[in-house]
Amino acid sequence: MAENRVFVTRQIPEPGMAILREFGAETTVFQTQEDRGVERADLLAGVKSCDVLLPLLTEPIDREVLGANDELLGVAQMAVGFNNIDVGAATELGIPVTNTPGVLTETTADCTWALILASARLIPQAHNYMVGGRYKLWGPNLMLGHDVGPGGSNIRKVLGVVGYGRIGEAVAKRAMGFDMDVLAFDPYSREAIDGSELATWADLGELLERSDFVTLHCLLTDETHHLIGEAELRRMKSDAHLINAARGPIVDEKALVRALREGWIGGAGLDVYEDEPAMAEGLVECENAVLLPHIASASKDTRGLMASMAATNAVAHLRREPAPNVVNPEVYETEAYRRRVG
Ligand code: GLV
Repeated sequence: MAENRVFVTRQIPEPGMAILREFGAETTVFQTQEDRGVERADLLAGVKSCDVLLPLLTEPIDREVLGANDELLGVAQMAVGFNNIDVGAATELGIPVTNTPGVLTETTADCTWALILASARLIPQAHNYMVGGRYKLWGPNLMLGHDVGPGGSNIRKVLGVVGYGRIGEAVAKRAMGFDMDVLAFDPYSREAIDGSELATWADLGELLERSDFVTLHCLLTDETHHLIGEAELRRMKSDAHLINAARGPIVDEKALVRALREGWIGGAGLDVYEDEPAMAEGLVECENAVLLPHIASASKDTRGLMASMAATNAVAHLRREPAPNVVNPEVYETEAYRRRVG
């Protein structure tokens, strides 16, 4: 039987494919109609006939998928987030799971700032105004946005960072250039925040009440699902902006639509959605929302690095070696893993 078979669920950037080729892996790349991901039946069939699965964040890698192949050596996801994978089940079944941390931090922080600036200064609305041929005369009241830096008032604006991991910190670092005060909330990074010169610890309620911009950078877990719901949105300032380039379900999107419509907050910049690619009813009609199609890490260089990292992890799985970016390292101590690698 062929060995070193990698099932890649959609075409990934060439640097990743090159690493798999150089290792001599036999790759199956699932080809789909434009904009359609791999169907469930094809995913299950692909898992059954591979040694390592290289999925994307769009595929639910649940217990059924993981359990479909007793000889699967690992899952090498091309993304930093891995909420689509049942890591608990993978560990039980003896399957190492890897992700692609670090390489997308700066690119994601840049895009977060693009959302902050675009939302605050009404950039998409202004662009549409121009291409719609509506610009006839400069106006003192035309497209009045919200300052990100102190503006002429010398009052420093407040950035609230929820989730102070690598990306949250990179976003905070950029706020120095805008002379902002940064508040940060992350129950798992209290020490890092207290020891940081970039940010000051605040609990979530205080952060929501004081921030001009609230930006989310936590993982999606049971604990952070709907972390920002109606009550939290109502605590924000009425001219504050909510930015989400993390995961959609951290925000109750229906409540967000009401907040945007009814003016509980000033605006939102979103890269992710609760039921992606769908959006909550009414979101598209909210003129105070800037909407992106989950592109925060989408630079050519960064996606190439993510693909390379996923492929390097896949090769480690194929070699039956501890993978560099394993998210469930405890798996290597299990009997289930030992049985799998033989
Ligand atoms: C993108 O959302 C990622 O998790 O890499």
